[in-house]
Amino acid sequence: MKTTYIKTDPFAPDEGAIREAAECIKHGGLVAFPTETVYGLGADSFNPDAVKKIYLAKGRPSDNPLISHIAHMDEAMKLTDYVTPDAKKLMEAYWGGPLTIILKRKSGVPDIISAGLDTVSIRMPSHSIANMLIRLAGTPIAAPSANLSGSPSPTTFEHCKKDMDGRVDMIIDGGECSIGVESTVVDMTGEVPVILRPGAVTLEDIVSVCGKGIYGGEYADAPKCPGMKYVHYSPDAEVFAIADTENFKAEMKGDNVGVITYEKYRDKAEGCRFLSAGENDNDYAARLFYLLRRADEEGIKTVFASLPENKGMGTAIRNRLLKAAGGRVI
Ligand code: TXA
Ligand code: MG
Repeated sequence: MKTTYIKTDPFAPDEGAIREAAECIKHGGLVAFPTETVYGLGADSFNPDAVKKIYLAKGRPSDNPLISHIAHMDEAMKLTDYVTPDAKKLMEAYWGGPLTIILKRKSGVPDIISAGLDTVSIRMPSHSIANMLIRLAGTPIAAPSANLSGSPSPTTFEHCKKDMDGRVDMIIDGGECSIGVESTVVDMTGEVPVILRPGAVTLEDIVSVCGKGIYGGEYADAPKCPGMKYVHYSPDAEVFAIADTENFKAEMKGDNVGVITYEKYRDKAEGCRFLSAGENDNDYAARLFYLLRRADEEGIKTVFASLPENKGMGTAIRNRLLKAAGGRVI
């Protein structure tokens, strides 16, 4: 398949260019596009043949459901019959933004986007290009992260292109994704909001709006978020999470050893390749996937990466990093 590229400025998106991509979606094509979290690989949620192509392009197991992206809050009603009062409060507080809400699936919504589950996951992004694309397509857009299954999610056009070139009809180049880790996924089908995947909207944020909330999924006994059981985010390099950066000392040295850590710990990377996590956890989140891919590009074989504190954005970073490290903590 020949992939067409469109470049547009997220601060002044070119409606004509994005209309072309929207036409492609309407005709059952695949379009990769930027969001505020990571690049997504989109198709019309209501076109099962198009959605099937997403699974093929990514090499994604068919039992892992997809998020449908919408441009207006009302569009949720195309996907579910009932938005619970707490779900409504969360939508009002955090949409458009990095929050995916799971509700009961409406009949007529294709099985394939939910991998047969009776629920559906919905997100309204804040990114101008994503929003314009969805609005012009006139349909919810099913989109997983635009990486090959198993690799880190792409947060730049170049990384998206690396995985998706020749596999999709179009890629929209909208520069870098500002958040850098995927949306928070929260199951709103029960009494209590259950976070299945941590992200920029935190448990504290959810509790502040709903008065309650817990972690579930991989944090609980039975994984409910099907995606969590698969290998994730792994670069070719071997990754180790550093539990105590203050007392870390790289025993291995050389250009093929990378250390991802905050600017204040720059000296910990002496004799190795310093990969900067920036000043704080928002910087770190925005760069983590980028740096894991960058490490491979630079021939780095071993990556040591600081494990942030388990709070705020740190929780989402820890979740992704521990997966990339296959649980190896030093
Ligand atoms: O930020 C994001 O969420 C990005 C951008 C493109 O929007 N998308 C994304 O999609 O990360 P994906 O497919 O890579 O991750 C979606 C996660 C998977 O772990 C999947 O198992 C879970 O959400 N999920 C989706 N629908 C679900 C459902 N109905 N019930 C439980 N888990 C669901
Ligand atoms: Mg993904």
